[in-house]
Amino acid sequence: MYLGLDFGTSSVKGVLIDARQKLVASASAPLKVSRPHPGWSEQNPEDWWKACNTVVKALSKLRPKAVAAVEGIGLSGQQHGATLLDRDGKVLRPCILWNDARSFRECEDIMNREPRAVPLAGNIPLAGYTAPKLVWVKKHEPKTFARVAKVLLPKDYIRLRMTGEYASDMSDSSGTFWLDIAKREWSKLLLDASGMSIDQMPKLYEGTDATGRLTAQVARAWGMPKRPVVAGGGGDNASAACGIGAVTDNAALVSIGTSGVMFVSNDQFRPNAGRMVHAFCHAVPGTWHQMGVILSAAASLEWLAGILGAPAPKLTAALGKTLTGPSPALFLPYLSGERTPVGDAQVRGLIMGLGHESDHKTLTHAALDAVAFAFRDSLEALKDAGTEVKRVTAVGGGSKSELWLRIIATVLGLPVDLPAAGDVGGAFGAARLGLIAATGADFRKVLTAPKTARTIRPEARARDAYEEHYRRYAKIYPAIKEIYR
Ligand code: XUL
Repeated sequence: MYLGLDFGTSSVKGVLIDARQKLVASASAPLKVSRPHPGWSEQNPEDWWKACNTVVKALSKLRPKAVAAVEGIGLSGQQHGATLLDRDGKVLRPCILWNDARSFRECEDIMNREPRAVPLAGNIPLAGYTAPKLVWVKKHEPKTFARVAKVLLPKDYIRLRMTGEYASDMSDSSGTFWLDIAKREWSKLLLDASGMSIDQMPKLYEGTDATGRLTAQVARAWGMPKRPVVAGGGGDNASAACGIGAVTDNAALVSIGTSGVMFVSNDQFRPNAGRMVHAFCHAVPGTWHQMGVILSAAASLEWLAGILGAPAPKLTAALGKTLTGPSPALFLPYLSGERTPVGDAQVRGLIMGLGHESDHKTLTHAALDAVAFAFRDSLEALKDAGTEVKRVTAVGGGSKSELWLRIIATVLGLPVDLPAAGDVGGAFGAARLGLIAATGADFRKVLTAPKTARTIRPEARARDAYEEHYRRYAKIYPAIKEIYR
């Protein structure tokens, strides 16, 4: 048996699979985000650990024998978060998350201090990345900064609690802005550029490697007498790609979660920093990936649901499943600023085109359209980087909405495949990495594409109206960006 744990922003998910990769059980536990100031986004690492234990207990209740037979565990997690630890491994402050926008000035500090940083990294430091967060802490919380002995990404903090090891994998470490992504090793030049040193970093592994075993204490508490090995695992997007077998050149997915991600696997390091394409290591050896990242995908819909006082599934259900054309309103989903393609942490969202007739449906439809337009922006940025995407597989909670998928297929002009296994996501990919680490299996044989349940195709009758609306959408940011300077 193999366990995959995915530490998302809104929940921790766990899946158990058997040696033939059949899903045996799954469970999840919710997480909350704290926003103490506008633009800030934090979580308490202890809450991840509590939720992780809740998930393991829930799985044990469902399938106690299967849990007792676990031999390998894989970890997947929200990327970029800065978990700061003192020399005893104690957490120094709440984790600053991937969608926290506070450190935009510090990105400029890094680039000014080291002009060779961007060419070496193949990426532009963005407020979401880990490095500028540490520069911010140094400036604003110097006493805390002075005590930082190690910096861990969210899933790697859980690994520390599980195994006692300070370790990370290449895909997640790529999002720190401290990794030499082409060489797959920590970069002294990049670490120096943000005032950090290599001894503050965890040891690096490939996602398929074993990084340690559960401590005897955790193994006992979780009822896993085999003391399973813990694989390097991956950032949640790379893990989701492992879940759907997107490990060969140009295999692509769209992930519709709190964030939205268009992800393409590459057989070489293929950066396009100018359009804010993230060019990172994949979670498997000798493989890289590119992605366009939308900071508020399902998060935009959740925000709308919050202010309209109705659950998101109810709002989308009211729109039906038939695609007639775009909403008359336009929504710029930049609630936390945006990464691809604008790289702007200061800009904020906008709804325009409202009339007396506008209602809940107009706004909900505009939010769904907005995320599709943002995916289209990422697709265009990827094309600019020389990447050709022919079809995409949809993963993440948002892929349960038929209408949303139809809009996305139409706006992208691409077929969207839905895996037969349902919403596989990062936890399943992580479980597969746990299986590889425990058995030494060839990753190409394990990380295969699941069967496609069905394919959603672009809808010709709505295509022109959406194309026209996308062109309008694309004019909004250039027209408003100066207002936020
Ligand atoms: C990717 C990113 C998000 C988080 C969400 O760069 O920041 O997709 O990983 O969990």
